[in-house]
Amino acid sequence: MDGVAPIGVVGTGYVGLVTAVCFAHLGHRVVCMDVDEAKIAGLRSGRLPIYEPGLDKLIDDTTERLSFTTSYDELLEGCHILFIAVDTPPSASGDADLSRVQRATREIARRGGERLMVMKSTVPVGTGERVTADFTGLGVSQIAYVSNPEFLREGAAIQDFLEPDRIVIGSFRPEDGDVVEALYRGIDAEVVRTSVATAEMIKYASNAFLATKISFINEIANVCEQVGADVREVARGMGLDHRIGPHFLQAGIGYGGSCFPKDVQALKQLAGNSGYHFQLLTAVLEVNALQKRRVVTKLKQRLGRLHGKKVALLGLTFKPNTDDLREAASIVLAARLQGEGARVSAHDPMIPAGEHPSFPGVAIVDDPLEALSDADAAVLVTEWPEYGRLDWGAAAAVMRRPLLIDGRNFLDPDVVAASGLEYDGIGLGDAEPPAWPA
Ligand code: UGA
Repeated sequence: MDGVAPIGVVGTGYVGLVTAVCFAHLGHRVVCMDVDEAKIAGLRSGRLPIYEPGLDKLIDDTTERLSFTTSYDELLEGCHILFIAVDTPPSASGDADLSRVQRATREIARRGGERLMVMKSTVPVGTGERVTADFTGLGVSQIAYVSNPEFLREGAAIQDFLEPDRIVIGSFRPEDGDVVEALYRGIDAEVVRTSVATAEMIKYASNAFLATKISFINEIANVCEQVGADVREVARGMGLDHRIGPHFLQAGIGYGGSCFPKDVQALKQLAGNSGYHFQLLTAVLEVNALQKRRVVTKLKQRLGRLHGKKVALLGLTFKPNTDDLREAASIVLAARLQGEGARVSAHDPMIPAGEHPSFPGVAIVDDPLEALSDADAAVLVTEWPEYGRLDWGAAAAVMRRPLLIDGRNFLDPDVVAASGLEYDGIGLGDAEPPAWPA
């Protein structure tokens, strides 16, 4: 391999673009390839297809090492090392849809040449074997394969790339893993070298475990509500145990995004396809689905029938610091509320006012107080910092009934209550503890 040849990255979504720009930051030349002409045209003229904090600045700083193309021929002209970072959305069966991965790997194989293919996309265990068997079937023998899963969080992706907890590299031949490991020179992190199948499983197992932690704390929150305990304190008390750790114990209205829902489902299907019933993940998924709907129950308990009532959603994206709406709790919540006959208004700092295809009939406005105006209740769906700074006194004044359900336990209940709102969170346990048996 030529050490100074550029790295190729196929796919300019969150993962591909962040990977490309961070490798450029480490000093590599990088060619980004995407079949989407509009995306590449935008990137060439400095327009980013996604919002990721710090990415624009890093692109500016590395611009002379980055180039963009829609052509596989151009990509393969100079690049031997090719990262695949195309999406693997869920298929109708819940398995990962690998059609884009297959298209990319075959486009590369078909053009021949000695290459090292590095899989960044989240793919089911066994994909490396399948791709290489596919190459053999096509008569291609010069493409080496490495699995190098990503662990980037949207909103913190650059930091996660440059300061990772670990770098996982799975290879069929150690020398291929060595080449990929060398690309990360300059990053201080433990490198886990393993087989391809194990690397693929590390990715799924990590996401499934984090999702399990969230569903676990959400169930604890639901019990806290019944028995008068406070889940925030419970999580703090649990998290101080090093074996448990403080992360991903934030109770709320459930996880969303492009990764956890899809990957938990895909791991469950992967297990099922190989004859194992992954019982725990079934519960994790079910808890997450129900958690979104509990907010509707909370509203009904206070407002009675929701028919004709106005409910304002604060935050639509699946988490703050992103413009991503994939599998966001807000989508289910808005539709459920409308199903109950409620009128729904919404505000999100990243979603422009007006009609949005994911929220038919929802009045999206660009001022939170306008969304709250005349509302019978508000639900805080995404913990955007701006809601922490909102004038809650003004909010109470414009609402018909100043009721706030904090779906992320984000706000200080005392501050909100002092502003004149009725406040409820998730698992804050204001119920009386159960009585002693008589
Ligand atoms: C997740 C993982 O955290 C990354 O390590 C992984 O690389 C990525 O998926 C992926 O597979 O590509 P991401 O989906 O960007 O990253 O977002 P997270 O910050 O993990 O949050 C996921 C969801 O869980 C959000 O809806 C968030 O609100 C929710 N969450 C998170 C909770 O409800 N409670 C928590 O304690 C933590």
